Amino acid sequence: MPSDLLMRPARVGSLSLPNRVIMATMTRSRTQQPGDIPTALMATYYAQRASAGLIVSEATQISPQGKGYSFTPGIYSQEQIEGWKLTTKAVHQAGGRIFMQLWHVGRMSHSSFHADGQTVAPSALAPDAQVWMVGEDGIGRMVDCPTPRALSVDEIQSIVQDYRQAALNAVEAGFDGVEIHAGNGYLIDQFLRRTSNKRTDIYGGSAENRIRFASEIVKTVSDAIGSKKVGIRLAPFITQRGMDDSEAITTILLAAKQFNRAGIAYIHLAEADWDDAPVVTTTFRETLRTYFDGSIIVAGNYNKASGLDLIQKGLVDCIAFGRKFIANPDLPYRLSHDLPLHGITDPTTLFGGNEQGYTDYPVYSKSA
Ligand SMILES: Cc1cc2nc3c(=O)[nH]c(=O)nc-3n(C[C@H](O)[C@H](O)[C@H](O)COP(=O)(O)O)c2cc1C
Repeated sequence: MPSDLLMRPARVGSLSLPNRVIMATMTRSRTQQPGDIPTALMATYYAQRASAGLIVSEATQISPQGKGYSFTPGIYSQEQIEGWKLTTKAVHQAGGRIFMQLWHVGRMSHSSFHADGQTVAPSALAPDAQVWMVGEDGIGRMVDCPTPRALSVDEIQSIVQDYRQAALNAVEAGFDGVEIHAGNGYLIDQFLRRTSNKRTDIYGGSAENRIRFASEIVKTVSDAIGSKKVGIRLAPFITQRGMDDSEAITTILLAAKQFNRAGIAYIHLAEADWDDAPVVTTTFRETLRTYFDGSIIVAGNYNKASGLDLIQKGLVDCIAFGRKFIANPDLPYRLSHDLPLHGITDPTTLFGGNEQGYTDYPVYSKSA
């Protein structure tokens, strides 16, 4: 197998990537408070990883209502836009490219994040799920998500506009594009699935109706910043968080056809990253290829061999790595030279904290 395939350039939307090793989006919860403002430390972290073909930023809330975890960044205030400029400038100066992941958590949230004490969703159904919240004692813990309030049609349409504004803000902040987070049981995914969407209006019922919200966002954001600067993240295989819908795969494949019509740059699949996750079938991959002409990026426990295998078969274009990028800022170099990979030293540094476990992982050195 030609082991340099991962290092071959790729075209994703209007970007030319020098390699196919993508940094997957990862929440690290290190913003400045109050205000959920990106910091200089975050800029250092991303710039250290600028050798990725493309970096996708951590999930970033499009509005105060879209927040569901402590210390995650936003992209709706001027301070946040200015804060993000530090990151985009540092990444570009280091020769990299970076998209922002746009996020609305919907019901995956907690009352205390919201001025009116309410979380929102397509339907008033609580997920069987928890979010990470730092209490007044300064200690982070997992807390149950309460029962959300069902959104009205007017509210849904105004959230579509929030995505539009957030995308414009991301471009103003210097991002090369945006990735719409439509996976992992967050708001858009909640609309896609019959388990979380019990609406009887134009946003619920048939697959076409459940896809409508995602399609409106994709179209509106594409009209605002250009479809070649837009990607979408999907997680067809998750069953946790109240997402276990036997029609999920067919719904998501149908959605992919609609995203194709919008001409967006890529689909980024969040695949299995847990132990007994389902195997993604070749049939699924081939069908997705038939329905979608843009690039396909996959993430989920990949290593060099498994990633190369899919690229060589022509089933995907790029491989995204999450945890390996946390502990190996120079991951493309290490992969291309078959060098040993560092592991995550202390999992308590994943969410929140300072430079420890964040910007202190070294690049490869022979002597180390
Ligand atoms: C610390 C951490 C934070 C994550 N945050 C996000 C996120 O903000 N948005 C998202 O779509 N996926 C998120 N993920 C999932 C990753 O993007 C990726 O799909 C997953 O880690 C599997 O890839 P890996 O096995 O290479 O780590 C996160 C994963 C980790 C480990």
